[in-house]
Amino acid sequence: MQRLAHDGVLIVGAGLAGLSAALAAAPRKALVLTDAPLNRGCSSAWAQGGMAAALSEGDTAARHAQDTIAAGAGLVDPAVARLLTEEGPAAVRALAGLGAPFDRAADGAFAQSLEAAHSYPRVARVKGDQAGAAIMAAVIAAVLAAPHIEVRTGHRLRGLLQDAGGRVRGVVCEQDGRLVEIAAAATILATGGIGGLYEVTTTPAELMGEGLGLAALAGAVIADPEFVQFHPTAIDVGRDPAPLATEALRGEGAVLVGADGARFMARYHPDAELAPRDVVARAIHAERQAARGAFLDAREAVGAHFPEEFPAVFAACMAGGVDPRVQPIPVVPACHYHMGGIATDADGATSLPGLFAAGECASTGAHGANRLASNSLLEAAVFGARAGRAAAAAPEAAPARLVRLVAPSLPPAALQSLRRAMSRDAGVIRSADGLLRLLDEIEALATQHGRSAALVAARLAAASALARAESRGGHFRSDATAIDAVPRRTFIRWPDLPPAAWKHAAE
Ligand code: SIN
Repeated sequence: MQRLAHDGVLIVGAGLAGLSAALAAAPRKALVLTDAPLNRGCSSAWAQGGMAAALSEGDTAARHAQDTIAAGAGLVDPAVARLLTEEGPAAVRALAGLGAPFDRAADGAFAQSLEAAHSYPRVARVKGDQAGAAIMAAVIAAVLAAPHIEVRTGHRLRGLLQDAGGRVRGVVCEQDGRLVEIAAAATILATGGIGGLYEVTTTPAELMGEGLGLAALAGAVIADPEFVQFHPTAIDVGRDPAPLATEALRGEGAVLVGADGARFMARYHPDAELAPRDVVARAIHAERQAARGAFLDAREAVGAHFPEEFPAVFAACMAGGVDPRVQPIPVVPACHYHMGGIATDADGATSLPGLFAAGECASTGAHGANRLASNSLLEAAVFGARAGRAAAAAPEAAPARLVRLVAPSLPPAALQSLRRAMSRDAGVIRSADGLLRLLDEIEALATQHGRSAALVAARLAAASALARAESRGGHFRSDATAIDAVPRRTFIRWPDLPPAAWKHAAE
């Protein structure tokens, strides 16, 4: 085994959170490890909506915070929402300063769009659906020019290094089939979400909760892992991952119709196509289950303007054999975002000394039970930078004997059966029976293949969904449709819930 020591901050993951952390760590050295080449294998580059921030006259951070808290269905930490929304405008301006080409009004001010559950137009976008790609291009250019940052691709996270006191002292990565230990004073996990645990996902399929699972195995507190957001309109053209048809299309007037061409959303919510994301996802799920089909019809709302106004959606549809200018787009709900994650404070510190987390793998308390649209890039930029600054202040640790915690990988066939089971039983609609069946399947896979980080992440989500016998935000239980009077967040540690205790804890 190769052993290396990095004199500075070690960051795993090269999405917007990881790279924001690296930039903010200056003048301390930052080493970024990523499996995929830059701009690949991260959700940030695929984000279509934009970045929410109160940048217009008439809007305020307090109003943005209120909307964030309302969307989160009782579980958002108000102090974190305030911090996020107060730092939002400066974060957008900083990205614009790096060259992110946000849409501008005639007077040069940021153009702001309205998205569902925002009380004011406050989403800074780039050419319809290009925000994530354009922001990442600007940030990557800044990272490559920064003398304090080194990026190493081809490094897949396999484990964590801990000392006898439980302090995280670095990571174990796989490079060209060999394990490499890299020790550092501070480690930031920015490893993304859990979309790859689901059969249908809008995120890169390689994101399977590795950071979350490994942090849990190391003893970190995990928050709200049952809260998964399903985007209603992934494009159903048989691709894995499924391309996204941004919510902005419905904002522009596109409508949801069945195979017979009739609109159906009015049967589910007075706001029809602009109802909250979880309501639209469940409606589409129900229409598909009833074999009536679900399609996004943007022929009138966008029509011939598709190639210029929504280039990413247009390209994905055309590649799948659907011309959205003249045909309704077949749609399916897909795993889109994990609100839960490694519990952190506002500076990314986890419950384990030496370990920080940022972006989708973290749970800062900003999103609660349901993330407000276009708050994820914002959170990645704001809390990524905060984690980078805090980790850079960590003192060098004295040499110590380190314990290597390496989890096995899940073979491809086992992963496919996990993905099917997660979509079936921990998807848009859950029930105790389904979740118990899922936990049995996860247990059987762990017995056969070992306790991989992906199985740990899946088990955390499934067991917490079973324990939460209510319906709140993105978590809907067909056998417990009411919402509890008193909201409570989930905080769990893996060692507190050995396999045999999962079911009993929930019964
Ligand atoms: C979308 O463009 O519909 C997704 C935006 C988001 O997830 O915030």
